[in-house]
Amino acid sequence: MKKINIGILGCGTVGTGVAKMLTEKKDLITSRVGAYLHLKQIADIDLALERDLKLDPGILIDDAGKIINDPEIDIIIETIGGEDIAKELILKAIDNGKHVVTANKALLANHGNAIFKAASVKGIDIAFEASVGGSIPIIKSLRESLAGNQIYSMAGILNGTCNYILSKISSDGIEFKDALGQAQAKGFAEADPTLDINGFDTAHKLAILTALAYGIEINLNDIYVEGISKITPLDIEFAREFGYSIKLLAISKNNGDSIEARIHPTMILFDNILSSVNGSLNAVTISGDAAGDVLLYGHGAGMMPTASAIISDIIDIARNLMAGIQRRIPPLSYQTGNIKKIPVLPIDEINTHYYFRFSAADQPGVLSKISGILGSYGISIKSVHQKGRKSKGPVPIVMLTHNAKEANMKKALSEISSLDFISDMPVIIRIEEEDKNDE
Ligand code: HSE
Repeated sequence: MKKINIGILGCGTVGTGVAKMLTEKKDLITSRVGAYLHLKQIADIDLALERDLKLDPGILIDDAGKIINDPEIDIIIETIGGEDIAKELILKAIDNGKHVVTANKALLANHGNAIFKAASVKGIDIAFEASVGGSIPIIKSLRESLAGNQIYSMAGILNGTCNYILSKISSDGIEFKDALGQAQAKGFAEADPTLDINGFDTAHKLAILTALAYGIEINLNDIYVEGISKITPLDIEFAREFGYSIKLLAISKNNGDSIEARIHPTMILFDNILSSVNGSLNAVTISGDAAGDVLLYGHGAGMMPTASAIISDIIDIARNLMAGIQRRIPPLSYQTGNIKKIPVLPIDEINTHYYFRFSAADQPGVLSKISGILGSYGISIKSVHQKGRKSKGPVPIVMLTHNAKEANMKKALSEISSLDFISDMPVIIRIEEEDKNDE
């Protein structure tokens, strides 16, 4: 039987999961590929770490260079994470003619264009299913299953840590920092959880998905990113009263001559299917011209879900090797020469619905003054709620708007914030909702 040699760079959580699957599911994988996928070597700087993994002596080494320079190794799996070392090793592996599988979303979002170019020049396959949504087959769906579709839009919950925190605040009423502590203890937060909380982990993933969906270069820098740290239990409570939940959504839309790509806390109606995605689970909805709406849902992180995605990439490449072909499917779905540059719409140019909350003195004329300013910027109010005051001091005033332009919202809120009777900065949360109720 043909043997295909695999080398893994990094034996942390994900690398360990991949090694476990290759060894423990050898028969299943062999029967699907028609070749034996042999884990020849795995490298990690920490050889002493206790791992739930049984390997023959000499398989685990501390020299990644030995793996990428081994002429017998056909496929390199990068599960180191981070940018610098991983980039250097991947480019060297490509240069050595090895096929590459990576789970590294930050690396691809920041340096994917250069890495894909190097892979194209060298004629090798590069696969990255595990970089977005863990076990969810979102990359394969966009690149293969939906390849005949013009993709109109996507909306996704792509960060388990943020979704867990927002779900926990909503269900248990606990504080943000306690919910974050629980997410860290459960192991799905990044080593530096600020990447989760500030939305950048989600932005890395959206940058990859947007390129795949619309046939454009990866463009992380133009994505608008706003994290969840300002979301309070009070806003979650108000949202619930209006029939919404709050999710950190990755939103991407193809407007033809421009792309919308943004990450921010978003209010969605309870009957939006993404509203029921709770805890650390991820989900993405994709809207295509022929397929209609497609929902993908599952575990976005964790040892075995992420390893599952990496193994599917390894199997794809191994099947190519068995068929004597490579680059059957272009990494970014579109053929290299057909990848376009479409500008990302600046956030000030988008139109959406808004929730905002002011702290204002409970006195005559407050609401008319606020609504006058909103009206002067062409912003139509859909509903207003003021909670009665329990003690002396400001009261929360909450307003929902019809469709409005972001730039106008910002100008209006800045004017309102400077009024004498307003204390604290207003809270603003965008709402994703059909336009059918707009007037
Ligand atoms: N920190 C990420 C999350 C892990 O919370 O979803 C998967 O990318």
